[in-house]
Amino acid sequence: MNKGQNLTRRVALVTGANKGIGFEVARQLAQRGMTVFLGARDAARGGAAAKALAAGDLDVRPLILDLARPETMQVAAEAIDGEFQRLDILVNNAGVNDPEDGSPGTVDLDAVRRVFETNFFGTVLVTQIMLPLIRKSASGRIVNVSSGLGSLSSMSAAEGISSDFAQLLGYSSSKAALNMFTIHLARELKGTGILVNAAAPGFTATDMNNFRGHQTVEEGARVPVQLALLPNDGPTGGYFDKNGPKTL
Ligand SMILES: NC(=O)c1ccc[n+]([C@@H]2O[C@H](COP(=O)([O-])OP(=O)(O)OC[C@H]3O[C@@H](n4cnc5c(N)ncnc54)[C@H](OP(=O)(O)O)[C@@H]3O)[C@@H](O)[C@H]2O)c1
Repeated sequence: MNKGQNLTRRVALVTGANKGIGFEVARQLAQRGMTVFLGARDAARGGAAAKALAAGDLDVRPLILDLARPETMQVAAEAIDGEFQRLDILVNNAGVNDPEDGSPGTVDLDAVRRVFETNFFGTVLVTQIMLPLIRKSASGRIVNVSSGLGSLSSMSAAEGISSDFAQLLGYSSSKAALNMFTIHLARELKGTGILVNAAAPGFTATDMNNFRGHQTVEEGARVPVQLALLPNDGPTGGYFDKNGPKTL
């Protein structure tokens, strides 16, 4: 079968998919027979990643998508619309930490703002821009790749979370804000068939932590992929890690 001929294939977009967890999510969705748009802010990195996956005969297409450049989101939406007139799955995976992020008493607020620009504002905006296309899907799914560090209950538990990242105000509060976006959007979209959930992938060896994570990317991609593949009667507005539903 020629790529793209089957219009009933599910169509997915994964942001920040040129490496790390996003790349693996793109691979796993494509392996399930989907057409996957591999979002990347850098054309060369995105092209190389899509080529690596497409070499395995998967239907993976690179798409320039920079959460700091709204015009790229618009062009990306038009490209998907032009070919498929809908988007079935959006995995909001792109995320950053910042070397200047730090403890609440001293952190440079510009660093906190930079982290929020990608992890929260950019993610909200790309979702808004893709939403008209997701509304055209028979079973839309939105997965926000969050973090255990975005959980108010885990962070405020007496034992806290033992990770260097737990000290980073910008990173953890941007993910807490992303969780709140998940709850609000799920509520707004109730009854549309679109399910919106947040995933905590777990500490995974990627560039983001200089490969110190103790999970493989295959393990880190598991929860986002499960949420992308939820059946129509699946949950919405939830927050999940590898053990299942998690308290926010
Ligand atoms: N690794 C973990 O232990 C862990 C744990 C919990 C949650 N997470 C979350 O999982 C997600 C994936 O992280 P990862 O560990 O796979 O990190 P990663 O390997 O550093 O990948 C991050 C991806 O996001 C992209 N990105 C960054 N800024 C972007 C922007 N402005 N526009 C578009 N794409 C952008 C990066 O692109 P470039 O290559 O161009 O920089 C890269 O593709 C993130 O949301 C992260 O917060 C990770």
